[in-house]
Amino acid sequence: MSGITFEGRVAVVTGAGGGLGRSHALDLAARGAKVVVNDLGGDITGTGSGTSMADQVVKEIEEAGGTAVACYDSVATPEGGAAIVRTALDAFGTLDILVNNAGNIRNAPFTSLTPEAIDALLAVHVRGAFYVTQPAFAVMRDKRYGRIVFTSSGAGVFGNKEQANYAAAKTALLGLANVVALEGAPYGIKANTILPTAASRMAEGMSADSMADAPTTPAHHAPEVITAMVTYLASETNPYSQEAFSVARGRYARVFTGVVDGWYVPPTDPVPTADDVHAHIDRIRDRSVYHVPGSLWDELTLMP
Ligand SMILES: NC(=O)c1ccc[n+]([C@@H]2O[C@H](COP(=O)([O-])OP(=O)(O)OC[C@H]3O[C@@H](n4cnc5c(N)ncnc54)[C@H](O)[C@@H]3O)[C@@H](O)[C@H]2O)c1
Repeated sequence: MSGITFEGRVAVVTGAGGGLGRSHALDLAARGAKVVVNDLGGDITGTGSGTSMADQVVKEIEEAGGTAVACYDSVATPEGGAAIVRTALDAFGTLDILVNNAGNIRNAPFTSLTPEAIDALLAVHVRGAFYVTQPAFAVMRDKRYGRIVFTSSGAGVFGNKEQANYAAAKTALLGLANVVALEGAPYGIKANTILPTAASRMAEGMSADSMADAPTTPAHHAPEVITAMVTYLASETNPYSQEAFSVARGRYARVFTGVVDGWYVPPTDPVPTADDVHAHIDRIRDRSVYHVPGSLWDELTLMP
């Protein structure tokens, strides 16, 4: 295949037994990467387990002439995360690319969310991303090269009714990716985040509000639309880190957390009161001038 290739590279894709992860794994393998196809094999809530989903994707990759190995561990435990990364090392000797994609969903109105529904999502999306990325990062740091992609969500970052657990978990990944990118920079590790929207079994479980009039043309809903961004971010061609990209309904667009110029109180002024905030609220909210800090320190040094 011409263009972006992954000859000699090894990738782990979590939750790759179906949906977006399967598409990412197939494309990386088609472009020459050796791929660990990880999937717990459960249902949309993350309940249950099985080997057939990951096995099926490995079969597809092998039938297309690629190289892959299945791994059925859960991302949601430290032991599972370590086992997933060890699978790459045992099978292929190294690890260059990690796509954190595994996910589950348990929607409910905010006050009806059970502790189990909250914890199940934090376990897979947030703790899972920690537990796989920590051992992967250690390998990448030692070899001074790595590409990590986190999978967030517009439902998380911009909000979606009845998905407070999902939103909290998916937004947490932005913070995690920022720090992984900052700590990875000296070692050639680049970490970025995608906010996808595409047809999958999970998309069918989204609330009616968010998926109403969902498009049906492949260029807008196929998992491969998301994969194009993931494969680019996972490649050596990608020079960017600590960035986030929405891929939804045919639009690829950067998403960022910015801070506006705001209202500045000189250090010699009296401590402001709520009435002072009230008096300046338009300026505090004015989005006409904004900055995108690369770190907390960056934000603090942006002040006049
Ligand atoms: N489809 C969308 O529109 C959309 C939108 C925003 C974000 N996402 C995110 O994209 C990712 C992929 O979702 P999808 O739409 O392909 O859904 P999906 O349900 O087809 O894929 C998720 C996969 O993760 C696996 N998984 C769940 N728990 C796991 C665990 N503990 N360990 C290992 N694997 C586990 C599942 O078995 C499943 O194959 C998810 O993180 C999801 O939150 C999807």
